[in-house]
Amino acid sequence: MTSSNIQNILLTGGAGYIGSHTAVALSQTGHRIFIFDNFCNSDRGAVKRIEAIIGRPIVVIEGDLRDTALLTQTLQTHQINAVVHFAGLKAVGESNRIPVEYYANNVQGTISLLQAMQKADNHPKTFVFSSSATVYGDPKYLPIDEAHPLAATNPYGRTKHHIEEILGDLAKSDPAWRIACLRYFNPVGAHDSGLIGENPNGIPNNLMPFVAQVAVGKLAQLSVYGDDYDTPDGTGVRDYIHVMDLAEGHVAALNYLTTHDGFHVFNLGTGRGYSVLEMVKAFEAASGKSVPYKIVPRRAGDIATSYASVAYATAELNWHAKRNLKDMCESGWKFQHMTAKSS
Ligand code: NAD
Ligand code: UFG
Repeated sequence: MTSSNIQNILLTGGAGYIGSHTAVALSQTGHRIFIFDNFCNSDRGAVKRIEAIIGRPIVVIEGDLRDTALLTQTLQTHQINAVVHFAGLKAVGESNRIPVEYYANNVQGTISLLQAMQKADNHPKTFVFSSSATVYGDPKYLPIDEAHPLAATNPYGRTKHHIEEILGDLAKSDPAWRIACLRYFNPVGAHDSGLIGENPNGIPNNLMPFVAQVAVGKLAQLSVYGDDYDTPDGTGVRDYIHVMDLAEGHVAALNYLTTHDGFHVFNLGTGRGYSVLEMVKAFEAASGKSVPYKIVPRRAGDIATSYASVAYATAELNWHAKRNLKDMCESGWKFQHMTAKSS
């Protein structure tokens, strides 16, 4: 990277799981990073650990996305050139229970952020958005490419779809905007240092943090949601991607936007799927611990199989996932027993 490419980048939600790993990747590429977070699902300890990895302090602005004035001031004070927007609520089940809070936080929060970008004197117009494979809903074909119809089946997914539409309209209204929506598949694993990773509050909703907590002895056994799907072993198949590969996808997207204006959508996955039982077996091998499980009925809303076509991201971003399943499990285990522990 040449010094002319170095940017001041604001990471909303930068203290969270994916944001913290992306902060490391961007910082190590030479960019100056700034974190804006209200710590509703993270803590300042994560920022300290990012600082330990990158070896320098980070400017943190504690605030809510809906505080447009604070965001405007932040963008101006730090002469931000680009925003990577991670901040949002992300639990599918919770979004069914409190949909208004999801629309308020995710959609209204994004509108507030875009308004701040328009108001700020320096007018930053480069934007990378954390979207999700959940926007596709029940797959009509596999692998899922970016042209697949969008039919999210829950309020969380619909917030992501609405935000993508707002961003598409914005890019049409003003060709100076440079926007990338990154549709993540299933991020897992942790930074090699074991200092940052995924440590959800309460009982994990997602498979791999649950598996890690069983392995470390914090939870007794995994419930496998159904073994009667039309998959090789009957359990659900997903495209798990190492969170550092995902983080590097953001570096590639920001780089792409330096030479491409307009609105772009990319799948970030590996292009292959693993079943729940394959994931359990791989985690047992990586940790040397056993992960007892029982088969229980299917979880409402789950699909059998989801994996990405990554052809477009590979061709356009010059990026692909490099780390394998063993890397995902070993790093996830290192973080679990070194930092998240069994407390
Ligand atoms: P996370 O909860 O670990 O991180 C989100 C961060 O945003 C947290 O630090 C939280 O405190 C902050 N935040 C939330 N609402 C805020 C607000 N109103 N103002 C300021 N800060 C706020 O989640 P993550 O797994 O790192 O996910 C990051 C993004 O990626 C989210 O938008 C999520 O929807 C999306 N995503 C995640 C996954 C996944 O499986 N983890 C998959 C697809 C998409
Ligand atoms: N599963 C279990 N037991 C558990 C948890 C999960 O058997 O305790 C199974 C699920 O049935 C599924 C697989 O493990 O077959 C993966 O489930 P996750 O909850 O980890 O992930 P999902 O694919 O359901 O959803 C995740 C995020 C969504 C996101 C989607 C695609 O939760 O927000 O990946 O990116 F949209």
